[in-house]
Amino acid sequence: MRTLVLYTSNTGNTKRYAERIAEGIGADILPFNKRKFKKMSLKDYDTIVYGGWLSGTTIQGVNEFLARWDDMSEKNVLIYAVGMGVVSKESRDNLINSNLLDLYHLRFYQLRGSFDYSKLKFPYTWMIRLGIKGAIQRNDPGTDAETLGRLIETPLEYDDNDGVDRVLSVLHRLASESKE
Ligand SMILES: Cc1cc2nc3c(=O)[nH]c(=O)nc-3n(C[C@H](O)[C@H](O)[C@H](O)COP(=O)(O)O)c2cc1C
Repeated sequence: MRTLVLYTSNTGNTKRYAERIAEGIGADILPFNKRKFKKMSLKDYDTIVYGGWLSGTTIQGVNEFLARWDDMSEKNVLIYAVGMGVVSKESRDNLINSNLLDLYHLRFYQLRGSFDYSKLKFPYTWMIRLGIKGAIQRNDPGTDAETLGRLIETPLEYDDNDGVDRVLSVLHRLASESKE
């Protein structure tokens, strides 16, 4: 089985997971580049993994990735999204709906990553501050000014080894099935 791992990453978490996945299964790995991806040949790969970081409920780059579905529909396609939020069935379903993933025959995983405001640049710093302001104004549950202020001051560190292992176990199973 020949596997390609593609990823988008702003502060390094999605990249780190992509590297572990690629190393674990022996895959080629590339940062996702919209323009290059439009033209690149996928014919040597029977499995493609796409990792995208989350901004709001959008998996970064996933629309451009899925735009080539016609070239991938006969392959194993796995997508993982990385965000700072707690992983739950509800958040996973929400991501599937928001990114229209149920229109495709693929496997989807939500992994948890770190969040470090000090690593962000404009416009992401502005987007985070705007998001916090909106949550406080709406009085969303658990989003008081103090809690959200902490998000800016204190980095949240999270290493989702279990999530990476879940993706890898599926890839190993697919690899053993392709040998049979
Ligand atoms: C502008 C912005 C919006 C974000 N929105 C969300 C979100 O809605 N849900 C979530 O779980 N994480 C959100 N995050 C957190 C990132 O997805 C998280 O830090 C992730 O680990 C980043 O991956 P990366 O290091 O590969 O860029 C947001 C981060 C930024 C900068």
